[in-house]
Amino acid sequence: MEFLEEIQRRRTFGIISHPDAGKTTLTEKLLLYGGAIQEAGAVKSNKIKKGATSDFMEIERQRGISVATSVLAFNYQNKKINILDTPGHKDFAEDTFRTLTAVDSVIVVIDVAKGVEEQTEKLVEVCRMRKIPMIVFINKLDREGKDAFDLLDEVETKLGLRVTPLSFPIGMGYNFKGIYNLWKKNIQIFESTDKQKIAKTIAYDSLESKGLKDSIGDEVMSELTESLELVGGVYPTFDQKEYLEGNLQPVFFGSALNNFGVQELLDCFIQIAPAPLPKSTDKRVIQPDESAFSGFVFKIHANMDPNHRDRLAFIKIVSGTFKRNTPYLHVRHKKKLKFSSPNAFFAEKKEVVEESFPGDIVGLHDTGNFKIGDTLTSGEEIHYKGVPSFSPEHFRFINNADPMKAKQLNKGIDQLMDEGLAQLFTLNLNGRKVIGTVGALQFEVIQYRLEHEYTAKCSFEKLNVHKACWISIEDEENDNYRDFLKVKQKFLAKDKQGQLVFLADSAFSLQMTQQKYPEITFHFTSEFD
Ligand code: G4P
Repeated sequence: MEFLEEIQRRRTFGIISHPDAGKTTLTEKLLLYGGAIQEAGAVKSNKIKKGATSDFMEIERQRGISVATSVLAFNYQNKKINILDTPGHKDFAEDTFRTLTAVDSVIVVIDVAKGVEEQTEKLVEVCRMRKIPMIVFINKLDREGKDAFDLLDEVETKLGLRVTPLSFPIGMGYNFKGIYNLWKKNIQIFESTDKQKIAKTIAYDSLESKGLKDSIGDEVMSELTESLELVGGVYPTFDQKEYLEGNLQPVFFGSALNNFGVQELLDCFIQIAPAPLPKSTDKRVIQPDESAFSGFVFKIHANMDPNHRDRLAFIKIVSGTFKRNTPYLHVRHKKKLKFSSPNAFFAEKKEVVEESFPGDIVGLHDTGNFKIGDTLTSGEEIHYKGVPSFSPEHFRFINNADPMKAKQLNKGIDQLMDEGLAQLFTLNLNGRKVIGTVGALQFEVIQYRLEHEYTAKCSFEKLNVHKACWISIEDEENDNYRDFLKVKQKFLAKDKQGQLVFLADSAFSLQMTQQKYPEITFHFTSEFD
């Protein structure tokens, strides 16, 4: 197959949702359509189970699963589909944000009964800001839930989206009979309710088709006709360009568990979702069809086996062809590396591949060369933008609890930070180390992994920090800036890249500082222009 054809047939996306909306179930059904798995139940949920005996044991279990589900690839109608896994748990929101830098589009899953939930709001906001094309799937229509029009309203107001339904449910809950496909203008009435397999349907070409009325009944038929009139009158006509630019979001309805409405979603998705997109670097925008290879690391997964401290760095290929055993430039280290066993992903298996194309994800075995955000190229010195760190929510001092193991501790901290598990700040005043995390769970994970993987012991000590802000100033000689550095000395630290960070102890003090020093910009992510 030609290089350009390989690019055009790829669809790399993520599914985002609040936990329990049905992300895992939908993923599984998509794989089932792709023939990548034979039976439902094969894809393990990587969510942290509620009421687990110990949170970190649960995380270890989840880590094991998440390496298998990091990328789930399959072929469907000659399209190569790469689903990137996004953790739903809020403590791992940063992993999800980073994964979103590697997708070309997303599917948002919403529970018909619960409507728009908190985690969905946060994730959609990130996608909206980045103009990522989004399709909404309203799930669990086999249960009683909110009225379809009310839900569409809720999606518009709470998520700030402009929606247009491309499928519409016929009935709901016990009465859920099928799907009107506005995209293909046909109707699927469900026949079987075999949850494990692909649902059997009867297709009708139009509302006038013979037998349809008998099949769904007079009442449902007139409800459907009314709803469709309303849809036609209220919502904008679907326009692919608007969708691709992030200005219009098509909505599908269905039940992932019962496999209703999933095919409508998938068939439309492969036609309208974008093939791999260009991406900005610090120097120029890179087009996927450029012949020179380039890509970036968006995720690092530590090996589950503590005896082998190698890791898997996940690279999204942006341009060119990635080839096995070929030297590539690790731009940050300015050194060439080659990889003898790059992994590609197919369903839940990974296998060594000779070559991969834009849109694909390759897993590279790494002994500590990579950190999140690193760029790998055929030789050009560019850095991909858009993999920032966010201000953590929780901060603690980290202390060495075993003086004989200082070296191990430092190495362990260093590597866990490269993986993106947490962020390290070093106080300017006394060199003390502060760990910042998005969720409280990460402290347990750090302690556990330092001990089990690096034989180092640590303890944490409370620290009162509200937010970390990255500082920038146009003129470093500015008197007010010098005053800031002196007065706020106690609250200044460096991040791992040596960037200056202000650790504000409260929202109030942050606000006062911002007012007092208007020439300083306080950023809430590590990447800014
Ligand atoms: P998540 O990955 O978004 O967290 O959600 P997941 O797919 O694990 O689904 C959460 C729960 O919702 C599961 O039930 C799943 O079976 C159920 N579910 C998913 N899609 C549908 C649907 O279309 N209709 C109905 N009625 N339920 C659906 P569970 O009891 O938590 O887990 P399990 O014991 O069934 O695995």
